[in-house]
Amino acid sequence: MNTKNPLLSEEKVLERIFNHIDNKTTDLGDTVHKEPVANYLSEERFESEIELLRRLPVVFCLSAMLPDKGSYIARKAAGSPLLVVRGDDGKVRAFINACRHRGMQVAKDSGCSRAFVCPYHAWTYGLDGELRHIPGHAGFPGVELKDNGLVEVGALEKGGLVYVNQRGAVDASMLENMPDFFANEQAYFDQSEYIDEANWKLLAETTMEGYHIKSLHKKSFYPYGLDNITVVENFGSHSRVIFPFKRIEKLRDIAPNDQHLNGMVTSVYQLFPNVAISILSKHSTVTIFEPLSPTRTKMLILRATNRTAEGVSTDIEEAKRDASFVKDAGFDEDREAACAIQGTLSTKANQHLTFGHFEKAIVHFHQNLRQHLSN
Ligand code: FES
Ligand SMILES: [Fe+2]
Repeated sequence: MNTKNPLLSEEKVLERIFNHIDNKTTDLGDTVHKEPVANYLSEERFESEIELLRRLPVVFCLSAMLPDKGSYIARKAAGSPLLVVRGDDGKVRAFINACRHRGMQVAKDSGCSRAFVCPYHAWTYGLDGELRHIPGHAGFPGVELKDNGLVEVGALEKGGLVYVNQRGAVDASMLENMPDFFANEQAYFDQSEYIDEANWKLLAETTMEGYHIKSLHKKSFYPYGLDNITVVENFGSHSRVIFPFKRIEKLRDIAPNDQHLNGMVTSVYQLFPNVAISILSKHSTVTIFEPLSPTRTKMLILRATNRTAEGVSTDIEEAKRDASFVKDAGFDEDREAACAIQGTLSTKANQHLTFGHFEKAIVHFHQNLRQHLSN
């Protein structure tokens, strides 16, 4: 983590967790927040949230997913087809994935390429987005190569992640206090996509509190995790929620210098607005909540090996085993809960959803969302 990291040190986190265990307490917020149910259903709210996702720096992928000059990823982000590519100069650039001839998408999925040849009529673009070639150029009098490059949007690499801003350059000062989440050596090994019938915020909310561990995850996470004991810190518009495992008790007998949190807690960073980074026992994930409609969301989960107390783990098999444990254990329970909630929202049962003192990070999230949307 970098020197500007505003978050508690490992030592302080551990001290706070042991205090909570000993006193049967947890970190608390100071506000009860009521979020109108309409904000999970309304088309108008959905559209303003999509626009917000386009005008803020949002994580697009891990740097490790673009290892070489010419490595690229094409996918939709906040409804826009984007193409993100590492150039010959090593720099990552992001473009709207739209051919300047008749709008075809010039790249699909991911790979490594020297140029992007539009599949429709073969207009050809360089890794820097410049239009290099128009077949039968004589048929397009007045259409200049130099005026018809791919339209560039903002991109910035920081701490092993690529952030994209679709409405201008990424404002580096907005990422200044962001921890360096991933080291170069951490290996990216897998990704999955899930589409659920739930508003993106309902899915994101499942990652932001430990109040539901015993109840919703009785047989999955609760046998290993402590119920409703979390360390919750807000930083900027973001939050970090630390969920300790029961086995953290082992650290009480270890000399302070050898006490490390790796494998003893799950740390979830909620990067405002729609990304969660989870540092689990033996692997780390980046979850991007892509809103598809007010009631439908695609979750994209990117997986990498962990940092360890000694450096970086390159043990992909171990990381894969850990990832399948998390999936088999509680992940689907969270998704099902979000979908079940969505099913009740169009009834008149609730005018709002209520978030209390145990749900501090969610309250922070909604307060920030409201504030950003009113700007
Ligand atoms: S649309 Fe791309 S070359 Fe025609
Ligand atoms: Fe959960």
